[in-house]
Amino acid sequence: MSTKLSVNINKIATLRNARGGNLPNVVQVAKDCEQFGADGITIHPRPDERHITGKDVDDLAQVVTTEYNIEGYPNDRFLAFMEKHKPTQATLVPDGPNVLTSSAGWDTVAHFEFLEKITAQIKSLGIRVSIFVGTDKSIIENAKKLGADRIEFYTGPYADNYSKNKEAAIQPFIEAAAIANEIGLGINAGHDLNLDNLAYFKMNIPNLLEVSIGHALVTDALYYGLENTIQMYKRELA
Ligand code: PXP
Repeated sequence: MSTKLSVNINKIATLRNARGGNLPNVVQVAKDCEQFGADGITIHPRPDERHITGKDVDDLAQVVTTEYNIEGYPNDRFLAFMEKHKPTQATLVPDGPNVLTSSAGWDTVAHFEFLEKITAQIKSLGIRVSIFVGTDKSIIENAKKLGADRIEFYTGPYADNYSKNKEAAIQPFIEAAAIANEIGLGINAGHDLNLDNLAYFKMNIPNLLEVSIGHALVTDALYYGLENTIQMYKRELA
């Protein structure tokens, strides 16, 4: 089974914002990623607009022809994007507005009612809902109970431990994926995945539907070019 590669283009917007103009052009980069083989485009429009802006969310909605995945904390602004654009997928992350990057999954037990309500609201728009989680059994079971279609594994801990002991690093994800597969939750994954650790993750996680990758992919593109880099990541997932 092949796994979809959704390219997270936040860092392209970070680079653009550093100068205040429109270089690189985020919309053009999204179109090029798709042409170079990306199966989807992911963005994380944060309230401070430090990378993806509200205008980017609107502009990208006009051009993305593959899967449009919008991730973020489900506040009113996020829900307004859902209503307006009906992307392919909403990935709900628990980040507060000022964090540098997502560094943990949801506690789906503590926030069950909130997530259940939001998930139903987003699903009623015809949008697939994925919930960013760690590997704890009860967290995954509750993601299913609250109505999510998929989970996205927070792979930061896997990436951190991969170089020390890859067997130990993957073990909790193997166990968590078995639970998700058994109860019928789709599996996505993201955070700190790269050309070193991606193939091993894919090899060990049956039914991995999608990975979203930004930081390492954009960094690799500085050396290999965007087209080559996307093809290299796709080969790891074949
Ligand atoms: N998934 C989620 C929920 C994220 O917040 C991020 C970072 O924006 C990613 C995946 C992608 O992580 P990375 O940029 O490390 O590839």
